[in-house]
Amino acid sequence: MLLIDRLSDVVGAAFEAEGFDPKLGRVVRSDRPDLAPFQCNGALAGAKAAKTNPRAIGEAVAARLREEPLFEKVELAGPGFLNLSLTEAALVDAVEAVAADEHLGAWRRADPEKVIMDYGGPNIAKPLHVGHLRSAIIGEAMKRLFRVVGDEVLGDIHLGDWGLQMGQLITQIEREQPNLPYFDDALTGPYPEESPVSVEDLARAYPLASAACKEDEARLAEAQAATAALQAGRPGYRALWQHFVDVSKVALEKDYAELGVSFDLWKGEADADPFIAPLVERLQQNGVIEEDDGALIIRVARDDDKKEIPPLLMVKSNGSVGYGSTDVATIEERVRDLRAERIVYVVDQRQAQHFEQVFRAAARAGLMTEDRLEHAGFGTMNGKDGKPFKTREGGVLRLRDLIDMVVGEASTRITQGGMAADLPPKEQEQIAQRVGIAALKFADLSNPRTTDYIFDLEKFVSFEGKTGPYLLYAAVRIRSVLSRAAETGEGASLILGEPSERGLALALSAYGEAVRAAYQKRLPHILCDHAFHLAQSFSRFYTDCRIGDEADTAKRSSRLRLASITYQQLISVLTILGISVPERM
Ligand code: ARG
Repeated sequence: MLLIDRLSDVVGAAFEAEGFDPKLGRVVRSDRPDLAPFQCNGALAGAKAAKTNPRAIGEAVAARLREEPLFEKVELAGPGFLNLSLTEAALVDAVEAVAADEHLGAWRRADPEKVIMDYGGPNIAKPLHVGHLRSAIIGEAMKRLFRVVGDEVLGDIHLGDWGLQMGQLITQIEREQPNLPYFDDALTGPYPEESPVSVEDLARAYPLASAACKEDEARLAEAQAATAALQAGRPGYRALWQHFVDVSKVALEKDYAELGVSFDLWKGEADADPFIAPLVERLQQNGVIEEDDGALIIRVARDDDKKEIPPLLMVKSNGSVGYGSTDVATIEERVRDLRAERIVYVVDQRQAQHFEQVFRAAARAGLMTEDRLEHAGFGTMNGKDGKPFKTREGGVLRLRDLIDMVVGEASTRITQGGMAADLPPKEQEQIAQRVGIAALKFADLSNPRTTDYIFDLEKFVSFEGKTGPYLLYAAVRIRSVLSRAAETGEGASLILGEPSERGLALALSAYGEAVRAAYQKRLPHILCDHAFHLAQSFSRFYTDCRIGDEADTAKRSSRLRLASITYQQLISVLTILGISVPERM
């Protein structure tokens, strides 16, 4: 049980004994930790309901709580706030509970679910944009968080591999290499095993095709027809398409690995294609799908909608399917074949309407209820001009460029700070890599998911303030304190005599609440706040107390043990955030 819940129970029982609702006993971390670490404001609400004086209720409850061995001090403040401090023994118990837990005090849910985390979502050949980057970073953290909490989670990249861009690419490659066997209608295979194009070819061909389609309607119609033919199963197109997908996957996997992002499933929109026709047929029979101007649609608008939600397009008039249809069919697949009980989509907030349509359509189709489908949207990472961030002088975002940029800056900072100077060059490189990635990821994750934020390289890579590098540095420092000591402190009894020792113990005890709130609200930044607070609490402890060189043996081993527990919890929370810590720097 979380410490905060236990405190709420005890205070709730005191309220109940005074004839009040035990819910009034809810304890929270104090917003004035200088007065007391915990507080309960129930007396005010109780007095309002009973039309009595809050201080009188507060006094009565406080008198009962003073009898509890948990509390060292119970004080009534202002109009009736209860300020609560714990005894050293209670704090020691709380830290022992953290130390004994394999997840270092993380909250676990009693009734785990089978969840599909849909994130990443890059499109074959189309360049990644900041939305894809954020999706990868936030989705990876959410997947790990859900796992720590107990859910069974599969991360699925859901590649964009079935839309118009495929027809655009096919027709572009046909223009460039018309003699390839894939374009010969008379042939049905076998086709060469070697891909006729590289990822670089795709990255070059797609913008050409896309621009041409914008300028020329006939060219667009051609790409649309090729998309429809691909989806209808034209063998040469399918074979060529498979090459596009395969070469792209290899490149993507490498970029994601560098970011510390990995997927259990590399499925894509195309994987759902075979399920669309039978689904459409069934939904036409039961009237969920309607015909509209030659297209097949599912109406999803409701009377009480504040703004109009257009119908979901299942099959276009030329027979091709789109983003909405593949998403609906993918839900069917995930429920039927993967036994998903919940699907969380970590996708740009700007797609909110798309997901509203898809979720409603899925519910109307009887595939999954809307309460099990979640869009965890996020805001944009903007440049200093307030527009979505781009690298290369306004060009498209390339993950490679972005990573090189942050790692380069991290390397400069490390050199300036005189860090890692006497380590082998290879290790220096690895440290810069970790610092750079940590800077980027922590900057992204520490903002509340739905807000926009500004890409500020200088701030991200700084070793001061609430940054990734600061946290890495904090972790490495604890590690070095521990490795320099002659003993580990393992098994030592904890002594929490100094204020900074208690502060650290309190910070450690707050992890469970942070995990629970981050999970329930789907807000990973709460974990960033915890990591930062923990690191700061350690820093105070480190400044105030001697650790490895403390003369008193009992204190020394207690402090080493406290440092070691802190290190483990810090590593745990950073691991959830997908941030890896170097051994030294
Ligand atoms: N490929 C899409 C895009 O670039 C993102 C996919 C998100 N996932 C989903 N199931 N729709 O916008």
